[in-house]
Amino acid sequence: MLPSGDGATSRLWCKRDDLTGLGGGGNKARKLDLLVADAIAQGADTLVTVGAAQSNHCRMTAAAGACVGIEVHLVLSGDEPELAAGNQLLSRLFGAQLHFTGVDPRHWGELEIAREQLVDELERSGRRPYGIQVGGSSPLGAVAYAEAYMELLDQCAERNVDLDHIVTTSSSGGTHAGLVAGRAIARAAGRPAPHVIGIGVAEGVVAGLPDIGELARRALDVLGATDVEVTPDDVVVDGRWLGDGYAIPTEAGDRAIEWAAAHGGWLLDRTYSGKGLGAVLAMAAGGELGRGAGETADDDEVNVAFIHTGGWPALFAPGGVPDDVRVASAS
Ligand SMILES: Cc1ncc(COP(=O)(O)O)c(C=O)c1O
Repeated sequence: MLPSGDGATSRLWCKRDDLTGLGGGGNKARKLDLLVADAIAQGADTLVTVGAAQSNHCRMTAAAGACVGIEVHLVLSGDEPELAAGNQLLSRLFGAQLHFTGVDPRHWGELEIAREQLVDELERSGRRPYGIQVGGSSPLGAVAYAEAYMELLDQCAERNVDLDHIVTTSSSGGTHAGLVAGRAIARAAGRPAPHVIGIGVAEGVVAGLPDIGELARRALDVLGATDVEVTPDDVVVDGRWLGDGYAIPTEAGDRAIEWAAAHGGWLLDRTYSGKGLGAVLAMAAGGELGRGAGETADDDEVNVAFIHTGGWPALFAPGGVPDDVRVASAS
C-alpha cells in the first residue's frame, strides 16, 4: 500500500523486470532478445553499442554476446577508470571490449557518432558488426515493451487487478514508447488500457528527444499494426523528477532507494529506477494518482504498476549509494 492524499488507497504493484536474468537483469533483456535475434539473422559476428559509463544496457549487451558467442564492443562516455566497478566490471567479466571516449554522458549525438565510426572500422577490418543504438531504443527494441504491456495486462487479468497507472523510467525512450504502443494496441482491441506515465530521467527525453509518440508509431509499424493510433494524450513525460540532470542523484530518488530496500528488498539505482519510484511515491502522497482505466463502481482502490527496470550493479560503482547508507553513522 502507498500513502495517498485523495482518500483512496493506492496499491503498488512491481513488474520485476529487474529479474529478467540476463547478466544481472533489467529492462534491456527484452529488447536484446529481439535485437540480438535480428543481428544473428543478418549474419553479424560482432555487436557494437553505446552508453553512459555505468550503462546497464551495455552490461546486458555484453552478457547477451556472451550467451550467443558473439564479440561485443561497448562505446562508453567518460575516461577509463583505474579500477572497473559496477556495470563496467560486469561488462569486462562478460568479455566485452570497452572503448572510452571521454565524451559527456549527456552528449548522445557524439557517442552515437563514435559508435558508427567503430562500426565502420570493424567493417574495414573484415568483421560483420551489428550496431545497436543507445539503450537499444530502436523501433524493434521498443516492440519488446509493447509485448511487455500485453503481458502485464494478462497478469493483472489473471489476478482480477484493475490497473489504473503504469509508471516507468524513461531515458532513451524505448521502454516508454513500447508501453505506449502496447496501450494503443490494447485500446484498439477494446481491452482496458491503463495509461502510461514516463518519468524522464535524462534531459533529452524531457525535451522531446526521442519523440516517444513517433517511436511508438514506428514500433507499431514493425508489428504491422499500422492502423493502430497513438494519440498525443498517450504520451506523458514527467520531467519533475530529473533534478539537476541525468545521473545526478536526487533526494526523492535516494529516499525511494532506501524505502524500496526496506519494504521489498528491492534494489534500485540512483540514475533510473530510484528516480522512477521516487516519483511514484511522491505522486501517490500528493494524491496525483487518481483512478484511471481500472475504475469500477465499487472500486476505491487505485492500482499502480511500477516497471522495475533494474540497475542494481550501479550501486557498486563510485557514488552508487547515498553517503548516509555507505558511511557508518557517527552516533
Ligand atoms: C535501469 C534502467 N532503467 C530504465 C532505463 C530507461 O530505459 P529506456 O532507455 O528504454 O528509456 C534504463 C536505460 O538504460 C536503465 O538502465
